Amino acid sequence: MTDPASLAGLAERYGTPLYVYELSELRAAYAALRQALPEEAGLYYSLKANPHTELVRELAAAGCRAEVCSESELDAARTAGLPAAAVLCTGPGKTTAELRHALDHGVRRFSVESPVDLARLGAAARAAGTRAEALLRLNPETYPAGAGLAMGGAPTQFGSDVAWVRHSPGAFRAEGVDLVGYHVYTGSNVQEPDQLAGWFAAAADAVAEAQEALRIEVRAVDLGGGFGHPYLVPGGRPDFGALRPVLRDLMKERLAPLAERPLDVAFESGRYLAGAAGRFVVRVQDVKISKGRRIVVADGGINALGGMAGLRRIPPMAAAAVTLGRGGAAPVSAGPLDEAVLAGPLCTTLDVLNARLPLPDVRPGDLLSIPNCGAYGMTASLLAFLGRRPPAEVFLDGGRVRAATTLRLSHHDIAPRRHP
Ligand SMILES: Cc1ncc(COP(=O)(O)O)c(C=O)c1O
Repeated sequence: MTDPASLAGLAERYGTPLYVYELSELRAAYAALRQALPEEAGLYYSLKANPHTELVRELAAAGCRAEVCSESELDAARTAGLPAAAVLCTGPGKTTAELRHALDHGVRRFSVESPVDLARLGAAARAAGTRAEALLRLNPETYPAGAGLAMGGAPTQFGSDVAWVRHSPGAFRAEGVDLVGYHVYTGSNVQEPDQLAGWFAAAADAVAEAQEALRIEVRAVDLGGGFGHPYLVPGGRPDFGALRPVLRDLMKERLAPLAERPLDVAFESGRYLAGAAGRFVVRVQDVKISKGRRIVVADGGINALGGMAGLRRIPPMAAAAVTLGRGGAAPVSAGPLDEAVLAGPLCTTLDVLNARLPLPDVRPGDLLSIPNCGAYGMTASLLAFLGRRPPAEVFLDGGRVRAATTLRLSHHDIAPRRHP
């Protein structure tokens, strides 16, 4: 990954706060995850982790599909060169306008969360003069205990309870749409292959149970993901290679018998694919002692990094940072490390990237770099709060700048102004 001097040079050139992505890391992550999946399985990149087209383009070129939840995620996937057939639209509360947008772009495959979602999709498809394909998202009855961020097995807006499907199979039919399979996504950020194998087995059980009630002609099953990755702390990607034979068996023994034709079985990942590719570089603006504790204030905080961590959507934030250089030039002396509070620039006590971060004697002007934030970084943050400029994003390939962009947030009139 990019060395400190180069990061400091990029910070000088593009300003801070700054995201720096290395595309070769993304390719390496994709290759590692492919090694963990049976060859014939599909893999969706979940754009919610990071929808930047430079990243999506790279993954698309490697053979990845796209899982999208909004018009702009879909637009990013299409701009990145993905064919509509490689896009799966997911998520609760899809509107008719969003469905129509996707249908007009040629997308035909949707994960539906409920009979209402299914009927709305059917109506949108009919209005568009076409038919859609739906995967019914299931909420399994039980969910294996353990680490990770659970999104199933409890009352939830995600999917339909398997018990509901069992008791009211007739509710899961609609005009204009063919139910062609199932989608299960029970959670995120599992680090252990064994545990993940348990999740996938539970997902396959849920699919088999629902299929017993619905008896559709199954063509596709999206078993979800949960592939964990370090977040804002140092560390390499977990090795999920042990999953491959387990998943092969699961597909052969549990899923294939549900279908008459070869099944399209797919998995999803956001953080595992994009996590390692990104670093966040901030400049220290202020250092002071408050009630005996050292407070280091950086020019980027939860407006630009991991704002959702405070909402427990992503792991709690305890960002690690390495010092890059004094004012981007001379290195910070490798003196003793002392605990500091690393705070951002927002007017809220929530804006703390790490309450106990061992740091050397940093001074205003020094640069800090936070690793493993290619997923759930900028777009999972409180970008509009306080209106600070969003960080620039620089994309490197083998250390060479391939693209650099900035996101602009501004108000646009949608009606004529009538001032007295
Ligand atoms: C349906 C679905 N797919 C994929 C993901 C991506 O999760 P991760 O980034 O942990 O791989 C999520 C995360 O919330 C999700 O809800």
